[in-house]
Amino acid sequence: MVYFSSVSENTHKFVVKTGVRNVRLPLRTSDVAPEVNEPFVLCVPSYGRPGGSGSIPPQAVKFLNNPVNREHLAGVIGAGNTNFGELYCIAAEKVAAKCHVPVLYKFELMGTAEDVSKVRDGLEEFWKQNSLHRI
Ligand SMILES: Cc1cc2nc3c(=O)[nH]c(=O)nc-3n(C[C@H](O)[C@H](O)[C@H](O)COP(=O)(O)O)c2cc1C
Repeated sequence: MVYFSSVSENTHKFVVKTGVRNVRLPLRTSDVAPEVNEPFVLCVPSYGRPGGSGSIPPQAVKFLNNPVNREHLAGVIGAGNTNFGELYCIAAEKVAAKCHVPVLYKFELMGTAEDVSKVRDGLEEFWKQNSLHRI
């Protein structure tokens, strides 16, 4: 799993709890974004501005602007807060639509124990199916 998490680190705490192999995107957009050469799922929080513009963290945009990374993106997991109503996890929806991959799951803040186990089990199943499709 590749993920972005700001200084509030909600997404970071969630990813750590899942125990899945992960790469964290740098906090500063000016830092070099990693290049990932194997299929991965992107976990991305939403950061909308008033009116709902923006919302995808620029660090994630920079990472996805690399065609090698886009080629290996298999799905998206959204982090957000339901207080944002219709804009709940909007960044994950936007990435999924633009890159033609599914939104696999959405969770609030650092996720519940149920979210953690659903994502852990769901990803295991997802990768099994994914490798079958690749044969
Ligand atoms: C300025 C700001 C804008 C936000 N916009 C949205 C939004 O549009 N939709 C949403 O679901 N959550 C939104 N959130 C909630 C964050 O996505 C949520 O707090 C998330 O857990 C942050 O992850 P992080 O701590 O790993 O950076 C926003 C939070 C902030 C501070």
